[in-house]
Amino acid sequence: MNCTLLSSPLQGFTDFRFRNAFQKYFGGIDTFYSPYIRLNGKLVIKSSYQRDLLLENNTTLEVIPQIMTNDADEFLFVTKYIQELGYKELNWNLGCPYPMVTKRGMGSGLICNPEKINHILNRVHSETDVLVSMKMRMGYESPEEIQDVFPILDKYPLKNIAIHARIGKQVYKGGVDLDSFQKCIDNTKHKLYYNGDITSVSKFKEMQERFPSIDHWMIGRGLIADPFLPSMIKNNVLEYPKNSIEIFKEFHDTIFEQYDAFLSGPTPIRMKMYGFWEYFSLSFSNPQKVLKKIKKAKNIRNYRIAVSEILANKEFQGFQ
Ligand SMILES: Cc1cc2nc3c(=O)[nH]c(=O)nc-3n(C[C@H](O)[C@H](O)[C@H](O)COP(=O)(O)O)c2cc1C
Repeated sequence: MNCTLLSSPLQGFTDFRFRNAFQKYFGGIDTFYSPYIRLNGKLVIKSSYQRDLLLENNTTLEVIPQIMTNDADEFLFVTKYIQELGYKELNWNLGCPYPMVTKRGMGSGLICNPEKINHILNRVHSETDVLVSMKMRMGYESPEEIQDVFPILDKYPLKNIAIHARIGKQVYKGGVDLDSFQKCIDNTKHKLYYNGDITSVSKFKEMQERFPSIDHWMIGRGLIADPFLPSMIKNNVLEYPKNSIEIFKEFHDTIFEQYDAFLSGPTPIRMKMYGFWEYFSLSFSNPQKVLKKIKKAKNIRNYRIAVSEILANKEFQGFQ
């Protein structure tokens, strides 16, 4: 079965530097979502968001920008901004689980408020011609919340609804709730994309068998932990390329150099790379030992030595 793979946005990870390097060394992703744009009370787009979306920084990628807001004026402002850059679609984040966001009625904290969702979608559809897509959890307190939102969503010509099959309250704990995801399939006319815990080819196949009507799949953390995963899913192979470590090393060195050139000083780059290794380490044997090695490297020289030692004579093995 043909499938479309989407890179689920991860704020702090999947910016244009990561996306370009990923595309060059691994491939397998059809479309990348950029991490959300959030305005802090002012109608101003931060320069980091601007850089991330500039077409010249995304020449080989298909990218869909994302917004997180509960305000129609903000939505309209960001719509105008992305349309001026040449984008046709804006994805709306109703998934973020963190209390700082949800307590303000944004992210997954907005799912329980269908009237507000209706008001915003109504204004956006009557005042612009942007294509809107959604990325949602199934609720904050309960997976039933989304069921009250579907009748509203069904009124609008949304491109699709991507669903991370958890509720906000879970944050990332517990498993995905596949029965509730099935209920979503049964109760909306919109095209659904599946998102959540795709970490290996076999996990992907399990999901594909369970949901035969789904042909769009979003991968977030699994793609950072195992960047070979999307191309392996696409090519239906279980074996890593023979030179997986060399490919991974080139990818690593590319993002390292780019972040090093951008971030000032040795501490920010070490912290940035440590964040990546929290995921990368999961694809090596003894992840905790790998991560400890990275943590112990207190300067760039030692960091480079640590990476060489981790990669020496090792195989890329993916999530176990
Ligand atoms: C560090 C981090 C940052 C994230 N940033 C975003 C974001 O900017 N926009 C969004 O829609 N989801 C964001 N997510 C959620 C992921 O896109 C994805 O929906 C979630 O991790 C479940 O998919 P996965 O199991 O494939 O990772 C983030 C998740 C993490 C862990």
